[in-house]
Amino acid sequence: MGKDVIIACDFAGRYETIRFLEKFGYRRPFIKIGMELFYAEGPGMVRELKTRGHKIFLDLKLHDIPNTVGKAMASLSKLDVDMTNLHAAGGSEMMRRAVEGLTRPDGTRPLLIAVTQLTSTSEQRLHDELLIGASMEETVMSYARLAQASGLDGVVCSPLESPRVHEGVSPSFLTVTPGVRFADGDVGDQSRVATPARAKELGSDYIVVGRPITASDDPLREYERCCDEFIG
Ligand code: C5P
Repeated sequence: MGKDVIIACDFAGRYETIRFLEKFGYRRPFIKIGMELFYAEGPGMVRELKTRGHKIFLDLKLHDIPNTVGKAMASLSKLDVDMTNLHAAGGSEMMRRAVEGLTRPDGTRPLLIAVTQLTSTSEQRLHDELLIGASMEETVMSYARLAQASGLDGVVCSPLESPRVHEGVSPSFLTVTPGVRFADGDVGDQSRVATPARAKELGSDYIVVGRPITASDDPLREYERCCDEFIG
């Protein structure tokens, strides 16, 4: 899989999701399903969207003991998604077991991406609540290297962090980047944003775009604009 635009389908249920995707006509964009939709509609929703021809990033951010995560990943593996994720904070053993659980009998598996530190965690909270003494940047890079050493394929990060991850971990370690906004668009609650064109220059492998597409009157036009800027 090469560079692609992933639409964050942050909808409450099946009805809203299908109504939204019908606006794409014959196009079948790569989509992200998060906890909101998955917990509302369950695995049947993932199967339905796969059957309709979408690639799926299942964003459930697993974090539990290695045995539980390994077995949960084995269940997700049967859903045949294209990408899924976990929290690197679960440690190397949990990540290794996740890779094992996700691997299909034929040796293939969905891409597995690590969340390092949530963007909602401030440097202060990192120190005061999580009692992590290292800086945010050191923590993120250390978790990214641990994820790579554990066999994962990449991390979720800001497009602005892609160059550092590619330099500090490996050029082939994937960066999946939310926080994308058009130059003339609303930033909303995102703080460290880049345009799709800038994300491309910075070397993002996948951009995850939600509201600039989902809240538009013409989602297909905005999606195509994203693809033109990011993929070219
Ligand atoms: O609507 P918007 O483009 O901001 O959506 C971005 C998507 O990426 C949302 O689903 C959001 O939860 C997710 N995300 C993020 N920042 C992170 C990790 C995930 O915005 N650090």
